[in-house]
Amino acid sequence: MIADPIAPDMAQVDAVIRTRLSSDVALIDQISHYIIGAGGKRIRPRLVLLFAGALGFQGPERFELAAIVEFIHTATLLHDDVVDESSLRRGRQTANALFGNAASVLVGDFLYSRAFQMMVSINRMRVLEVLADATNVIAEGEVLQLMNMHDPDLAVDDYLRVIRYKTAKLFEASARLGAVISGASHDIEEACADYGRSLGTAFQLVDDLLDYQGETQELGKNVGDDLREGKPTLPLLVAMERGTTQQRALIRHAIEHGEVQRLAEIVTIVRDTGALELTRDAARSEADKARQCLHRLPPSTYREALLELCVRSVDRSF
Ligand code: IPE
Ligand code: IPE
Ligand code: MG
Ligand code: MG
Repeated sequence: MIADPIAPDMAQVDAVIRTRLSSDVALIDQISHYIIGAGGKRIRPRLVLLFAGALGFQGPERFELAAIVEFIHTATLLHDDVVDESSLRRGRQTANALFGNAASVLVGDFLYSRAFQMMVSINRMRVLEVLADATNVIAEGEVLQLMNMHDPDLAVDDYLRVIRYKTAKLFEASARLGAVISGASHDIEEACADYGRSLGTAFQLVDDLLDYQGETQELGKNVGDDLREGKPTLPLLVAMERGTTQQRALIRHAIEHGEVQRLAEIVTIVRDTGALELTRDAARSEADKARQCLHRLPPSTYREALLELCVRSVDRSF
């Protein structure tokens, strides 16, 4: 583990987050502090800061921008947990479980719109453009996923499209914005964006894997949520392709109807067919693509940290 070159910067981002979170409306204050205060890995703001650092930018807008991407991320989580009917997030009860669906959706909207107020204050049309596009694509990803629900015949390419939209797009925007505020050339900006897109894809592949292989305690989310909902993710798609006729039928039924009773059995099939290894390998190959993009940056501790993020995103267990 190398020393974290942006530890002091992250403290500043935290300060911006706390200041910008405030609202006179008590319930907004309560819910937004509840979810933000639970922490999270803060990967997206790290991307903004690491790319800005790697490209030699030290202006104060970077803190604001880092807070913006974390707000957008948090808004999507508030909405996602309602849609997914999840009850555990960041080791705590979800906001929807505690405060209800309506409050979660509305506070998610508050965070989205606060993020847009902050963007305007940066006063750069290109920043607005990148983030307006990203939030729009994320919404498309979540709706596409909704349409794919309970469909055991989903093609792997369609699954990957959802991942690119709902998760990789914000990673891409975060990395790209690090380059944009640094005034980087078009080529460098694209290399940063490519890194973010590949890392985000790897990250979601691992998230989908951990839903079968992880530990609820460590993950801070309920393992098995995807199956419970009938979400056709890569571990299930691969297990169906490789399993026996009987195993395939069991998984098809689980996706079509959502299944908890036979979760243990399905996890065993997923494990025995090598679907988890294949998913981890797919993530590793995406992370390798991300790593290649870093050759375009000058060597620095920031670049080292971006490299380490590629490894950690694949090997993580939370
Ligand atoms: C969760 O993202 C949603 C996915 C894209 C898988 P993170 O795993 O980054 O969530 P936190 O912020 O660390 O809780
Ligand atoms: C990621 O998908 C959600 C968003 C990017 C909004 P998941 O539904 O898998 O995320 P978790 O597992 O609930 O964090
Ligand atoms: Mg979810
Ligand atoms: Mg998940």
